[in-house]
Amino acid sequence: MSQLIHTMISLVRQKNANRLGDLLLRASMDFTHCDLGVFLLFENNSLIAFQQLLRSRNLDLRKKDADAGQIALYEAAIHLFLKKGTDPIAANNLYDLSAPEYALLKELDSYQKYQSRSLLFFPLVLTNQERAGALLLINSLDDQGRPVPFSAEICQEIHDLADLASVALSNIHYLHDIRLQMNSFVDAMTTAIDERTPYNGNHSRKITGYCLAVCDKINEKYETGEGTDFFDENRREQLRMGALLHDLGKLITPLEIMNKPTRLSAHQSKIENRFKLIRAYQYIDYLEHRQTEEEYEKEIRYLDASWQLIIESNLVTQLKVHSIIPLQILAGKVYCRPSGETLPYLTPHEAECLMIPYGTLTFQERKIMQEHVILTRKLLRQVHFTKDYERVPIFASRHHEFLDGSGYPDHLTGDQLSLEAKILAVADIYDALTAADRPYKDPISREDAFEILQDMADHGKIDPWLVSLLQETELPAG
Ligand SMILES: [Fe+2]
Ligand SMILES: [Fe+2]
Repeated sequence: MSQLIHTMISLVRQKNANRLGDLLLRASMDFTHCDLGVFLLFENNSLIAFQQLLRSRNLDLRKKDADAGQIALYEAAIHLFLKKGTDPIAANNLYDLSAPEYALLKELDSYQKYQSRSLLFFPLVLTNQERAGALLLINSLDDQGRPVPFSAEICQEIHDLADLASVALSNIHYLHDIRLQMNSFVDAMTTAIDERTPYNGNHSRKITGYCLAVCDKINEKYETGEGTDFFDENRREQLRMGALLHDLGKLITPLEIMNKPTRLSAHQSKIENRFKLIRAYQYIDYLEHRQTEEEYEKEIRYLDASWQLIIESNLVTQLKVHSIIPLQILAGKVYCRPSGETLPYLTPHEAECLMIPYGTLTFQERKIMQEHVILTRKLLRQVHFTKDYERVPIFASRHHEFLDGSGYPDHLTGDQLSLEAKILAVADIYDALTAADRPYKDPISREDAFEILQDMADHGKIDPWLVSLLQETELPAG
């Protein structure tokens, strides 16, 4: 295969703009036997070069200061060439020409004690007509190393190479734009999830930070020979995106469940009003001699004690054992309205709320809350992820699975879960424990959180190695 075709294939395959520029510059200089070459890359059509490459066979370009000055002057000359349009430019002897761009190159010659003669210039224009780069070649050399004009045949070859590089650069820009679009959309979704309720704080972004910190630790272990897993750029990126989107389904979860701060929540004031009413009915019964003073006072003492029990039970994290029977008795009690209608002291839902064994959610509410992972999966399955991101929905929707199969929604076990899902599970629990902004619980310290995580690991729920790696990260909690 000819060198030219080989170079063309390499150019087309390039996925990195800087490496593409370097390849084009080196290849162009080799094909033209030219002495000096400059390549610039621009971003967003601003024509402010973010990458400059200067190579020369004869000039000493190793002195850093001299390089910077030379590049700045070449850059200025290239801007003048670009002002002329998007066609290639060739000159046999620039000392015969007087336009400002040639004057600048001549001035540059005297600055670096050099003599530029022949010149080729190619702008790199993207398919959307944006100018994204420029190639400047100076002094084609003959066999004796003397500057000669660039031959027409060589000009055409370099023109073809530059055109191909423009197409490759267009593809790189396109892929970059797509990725940017995807990332900004994920960012917006993450903001929507985290800002839906102030109680969610920065949860998605925080657990992403924890996941990536664990992932970096895994890579460290791999490099020291202590681990067998390694997260390359793409694997890390899929984990990052999975972590950012893991609670996407919470956009659909009802806020009154997600934000439920106490067991009774808004029901407490309803019970309070009902108790005031019951108290009034008791008093009327006493005044109308349907009960004795002693019976009336006994009922009032029971109401006061029951109200105290309700207030206490409403706020505890774990239901106190000694409260269960009094609450059951209260739930079975009824009062009689003046109309003769009989009503319960507590509705079945209020009684269920007060007798929640742990936390603030009833069985049904917890079920709805847990559905957020199913919704995450459902929503992410509707998104077209490219091959590079195809595992994001799986990583995102398995963060509540436990190694022993006791998690949800699919009760998967350790051997069915990816390392990414296991990392997400540990990070998610750690943030849930330490977050300072949850309505239903007080935050706990980093030390206590790791004690709980360790306990869960000891019981086969989460991966002990990942717990220890998260602990090694020393990331701030909360
Ligand atoms: Fe979740
Ligand atoms: Fe979460």
